[in-house]
Amino acid sequence: MRGVHITRFAALDGNGRPSKTLLPIRQVLRLENLAEHQAIGANKIRVETHYAGVQYPDFLQAKGLYQIKPQLPYVPGMDSAGVVVGKGSNVNRFRIGDRVLVNTALCKDGQGGTGALAEKVTVSQEACFPVPDDLPLHSVSNIGRNYCAAYHALKVLGDVSRGDLVLVDGASGGVGMATVELAKAMGCHVIAGVSSESKAQFPGQAGADRVLVYGRTKESYTNFKVDAKQAAKELGHSQGATLVVDVVNGELFDALVSCVKPLGTICLVGFTAGQRPIRPGLLLIKEVRVVGSLWGRWARENPVQFSNNMKEILAIVQGQKSGSSACIYPLEQIVDAFELFEQNKSRGNTVIAFPAANRKSKL
Ligand SMILES: NC(=O)c1ccc[n+]([C@@H]2O[C@H](COP(=O)([O-])OP(=O)(O)OC[C@H]3O[C@@H](n4cnc5c(N)ncnc54)[C@H](OP(=O)(O)O)[C@@H]3O)[C@@H](O)[C@H]2O)c1
Repeated sequence: MRGVHITRFAALDGNGRPSKTLLPIRQVLRLENLAEHQAIGANKIRVETHYAGVQYPDFLQAKGLYQIKPQLPYVPGMDSAGVVVGKGSNVNRFRIGDRVLVNTALCKDGQGGTGALAEKVTVSQEACFPVPDDLPLHSVSNIGRNYCAAYHALKVLGDVSRGDLVLVDGASGGVGMATVELAKAMGCHVIAGVSSESKAQFPGQAGADRVLVYGRTKESYTNFKVDAKQAAKELGHSQGATLVVDVVNGELFDALVSCVKPLGTICLVGFTAGQRPIRPGLLLIKEVRVVGSLWGRWARENPVQFSNNMKEILAIVQGQKSGSSACIYPLEQIVDAFELFEQNKSRGNTVIAFPAANRKSKL
């Protein structure tokens, strides 16, 4: 079977230490013929991949900088969608031919959070969820990284309600666009932030009430604070945002503290602009809560609630036809898809389409 293969980390040397030179991502990943395991464990299912997501965490992992560092060589991929083509003797939740989405991050054994970027993936049944018949598989191939991350920040940690104001940065990216879509579906007002005018149209397409450009300088961040407070007022939230969902962090963070209302919450989901020390005084004055957000562990420990959340996410995606925000690349262009993250050119869901010609299932 064909799949993506990574034999070294772009940012680490052979001993696993930070490398003096960062390799271009195209030098560490290749499309290859991979050995196919025949046996399927009793609790496992084998899924034929139709679509798989590529997102920022795959890129970070390929550099060797993600929180989970797989053993080399490895097949990357945390999210995919396809059809069940095999199952173990204890599997009763799925039948051959079922359409499913796969979150390899939920696998409790093996190299969790890898393996989805291959023509077939064999995972524990807990890592799979049924996909409604009328929901296209490409629109659910990024559910884990983008929608589960956004839902966890908004609902599980942020506890937003209808009418609340949510502010999200990096809002043209995967988690950002999903946050806009889910927050709007939950009845919230949404202010979306992006770094440049060229990205401003995307969060608007996902439903954001206001899109602001915060640039990349201290001065532009100061202007953003003023613009965000004004936009919040216009949306009826004179004290600021109920919840800020932060995927960018870096020097933008101080401006975000200014945008949240007293006793409000900032959910820290990622830090594409790098990490900066947080100034406790800023939080104290505003009585702001800052909470780190990593949905995977919570999902493994709360499977019933997570499964209900997943149903709600799928219903929202189905209602909004959110898959329209996907950028779809054929498998042969896997390197181009990874390079989007190297060049900060990604938008919404980045999806890899696996060739239909090689499929065993009829769907
Ligand atoms: N905690 C979780 O459960 C979880 C789940 C998924 C992802 N994440 C993390 O969330 C973050 C976003 O992931 P994603 O898939 O949404 O990424 P993405 O699609 O690349 O979007 C992230 C956004 O960050 C901004 N950005 C990128 N590089 C930057 C830089 N060097 N300096 C400043 N801003 C930069 C860009 O927005 P602008 O150019 O408009 O600023 C970009 O659109 C990553 O750190 C990822 O690891 C966390």
